[in-house]
Amino acid sequence: MSATATAVKPPKVRQTRILINNEWCDAASGKTFPTINPATGDVIAQVAEADKEDVDRAVKAARTAFDSGKWPRTMPSRRGWLLNKLADLIETNKEELAALEALDNGKPFKDAINADLPLTVACYRYYAGWADKLHGKTIPINGPYFCYTRHEPVGVAGQIIPWNFPLLMQAWKLAPALACGCTTVLKAAEQTPLSALRVGELILEAGFPPGVVNILPGYGPTAGQALARHMGVDKVAFTGSTEVGHLIMKYSAESNLKRVTLELGGKSPNIVFADANMDEAIEGSHFALFFNQGQCCCAGSRLYVEEKCYDEFVSKSVDRAKQRKVGDPFDASIEQGPQVDQDQFNKVMSYIEAGKKDGAKLMTGGGRSGSKGYFVEPTVFADVQDNMRIAQEEIFGPVMSIIKFKDTADVIKRANANMYGLAAAVWTKDISKAHAIANGVRAGTVWVNCYDVFDAAAPFGGYKQSGLGRELGEYGLQNYTEVKTVTVKL
Ligand code: NAI
Ligand code: MG
Repeated sequence: MSATATAVKPPKVRQTRILINNEWCDAASGKTFPTINPATGDVIAQVAEADKEDVDRAVKAARTAFDSGKWPRTMPSRRGWLLNKLADLIETNKEELAALEALDNGKPFKDAINADLPLTVACYRYYAGWADKLHGKTIPINGPYFCYTRHEPVGVAGQIIPWNFPLLMQAWKLAPALACGCTTVLKAAEQTPLSALRVGELILEAGFPPGVVNILPGYGPTAGQALARHMGVDKVAFTGSTEVGHLIMKYSAESNLKRVTLELGGKSPNIVFADANMDEAIEGSHFALFFNQGQCCCAGSRLYVEEKCYDEFVSKSVDRAKQRKVGDPFDASIEQGPQVDQDQFNKVMSYIEAGKKDGAKLMTGGGRSGSKGYFVEPTVFADVQDNMRIAQEEIFGPVMSIIKFKDTADVIKRANANMYGLAAAVWTKDISKAHAIANGVRAGTVWVNCYDVFDAAAPFGGYKQSGLGRELGEYGLQNYTEVKTVTVKL
């Protein structure tokens, strides 16, 4: 994809309101909230602040579209056609959407256009293909009966997304739900509402019927909670912190036992053996941790390096981190933009302090970068011990923690001694070691000699407190379907 520094400017913001029943509206309260440019701290725009009343209206629209509207009864191939149409529109507007993402989130435009956008488009196209392939089974039960299953849409889906990959998380939620015939109410993250709203305009342009997709910008404890507690919502899909994941399950339990899928935090072990291709392991581990300002649920944030190559690995990784270019997300030579907001900046800085206090060795970075915005220096700690907070808790920032290990059995045990289980990686030329790690580590995804390889066809999700259920791929369809058994006497 071609994108040059000079060609790209922050885009004009076109849409800041709530989308309900194919109409743009203000919040019932009339309230708005500011969305901030994290590179400068300046307000980009005021956005309508959805709350309970708006959630009620949106759920009502989605309910009507599901219960008596055409959507679940639309010809499946037509649903696929609309999803493909949306993918085309996103592709046509990819420069604008990538620029909006860079402006609102702070990620380098270059990353948005080369990673977020193609993955987003591919996700809609992938699920467009599933829309007319959702069939059940015929089952040979005992007796003179004909038994079969139908895969029916689960109903109204409430979808709550975070700010680290706003467009992509919207696609991961909307695409499978719509392919399955569900209607949706999606709450965008308060830090990054703009790209979701622009996609809302494209959804109207594509021609989705009223009420099928409703998009609410707003805060978690207000709009998010109202959605997850709503009696008219059949299923809630959430991506965000493990802390809020616990709340989402509670909201479901205390309301209508709506189906819950959760994609939560991680502290993913990235394991480097001495027999690995060292240059690839160093660059791959740098990418695994620092990509997207370290704001990835699956960041390789527990970097286990074999004793025999530890010193060489640390020294070269520190050199690489020192070279990392931090600055204006719209400058094509930049690798790292700001953290998304002041809260995340403060959180990252507090973990850097904890690392120092716990006795890890600060090799580079550790401070703020620049004088405005929320930039953090690429930071590397060596001699990190498993029990330190920086080795146990999700930092969600550009802070690498390098830990020493002895052998395969030792590292598997230690990799698993954590409450998370989202992803893991191993770097080695020895296929036995690679498979020992792939099989031994309790994580939803294991990468071998690579990292952050995503594809709409490959399922993603967590073991343990990293979540519940899988998104993407064929498995992702299960989140949005109910299985109905029909038995007919012959
Ligand atoms: P969060 O979990 O509070 O926010 C994620 C989404 O949930 C947002 O849309 C938010 O408005 C909503 N939300 C918040 N409280 C809610 C509630 N009570 N009911 C319903 N929805 C609610 O995450 P936050 O505060 O943005 O970041 C905190 C930490 O969470 C990060 O530092 C990081 O460690 C982790 N995180 C993990 C993500 C992932 O991809 N798994 C994404 C974002 C954050
Ligand atoms: Mg929060």
